[in-house]
Amino acid sequence: MEIRTASMKDVDAIVEMNSQRCINEHNFYDKTVDIDYPKKYQEKLQINMRNGFGLAIVAIVMGNIEGYLIGSISETEEYRNIDNIAEIDSMFVKPNMRNQGVGEKLVDHFLKWAKLNVKRAKVVVSAKNNRGIKFCRKAGFTDHKTVLEMKL
Ligand SMILES: CC(C)(COP(=O)(O)OP(=O)(O)OC[C@H]1O[C@@H](n2cnc3c(N)ncnc32)[C@H](O)[C@@H]1OP(=O)(O)O)[C@@H](O)C(=O)NCCC(=O)NCCS
Repeated sequence: MEIRTASMKDVDAIVEMNSQRCINEHNFYDKTVDIDYPKKYQEKLQINMRNGFGLAIVAIVMGNIEGYLIGSISETEEYRNIDNIAEIDSMFVKPNMRNQGVGEKLVDHFLKWAKLNVKRAKVVVSAKNNRGIKFCRKAGFTDHKTVLEMKL
């Protein structure tokens, strides 16, 4: 398995995987997730990649793209005593390739990149996504804040 920086040629594959991720999120974890968002986000991703902003990586197994991770660095809230934080914006491993360490390799790569730039990293996972939460805890993230919302 190889983890490499995504190229413009990989954008369609990333958008397709991100669409699958959003549909899954919408159907099982969070009805407010816009399933059309990945298509809207495609142009922003291309601009970010062209400008070298953030991280876009893909996992290649036997010549095929089987997963991706998009990461970024942003400013933290004003009340915090750290200025910036790295974040996993989205990641996905194709269902038939899961539980073989692909996700772990993607996160390892993200953390190495993040450590070059900042001192803290975060990931936001839907509260109902038990698999995603378990995976992120195993990767070293610990519960930091609980966000509560209500439908009005
Ligand atoms: C979360 C995800 C990226 C993990 O990718 P992966 O390639 O399967 O991850 P790895 O093989 O490196 O690690 C597997 C770990 O994930 C968790 N996991 C995987 N399948 C699971 C399941 N069916 N039930 C509970 N936990 C599970 C476990 O912690 C497992 O660790 P283990 O090997 O000790 O059991 C993948 O399941 C995925 O794409 N999910 C949909 C997108 C998503 O949820 N994104 C949010 C995460 S930021």
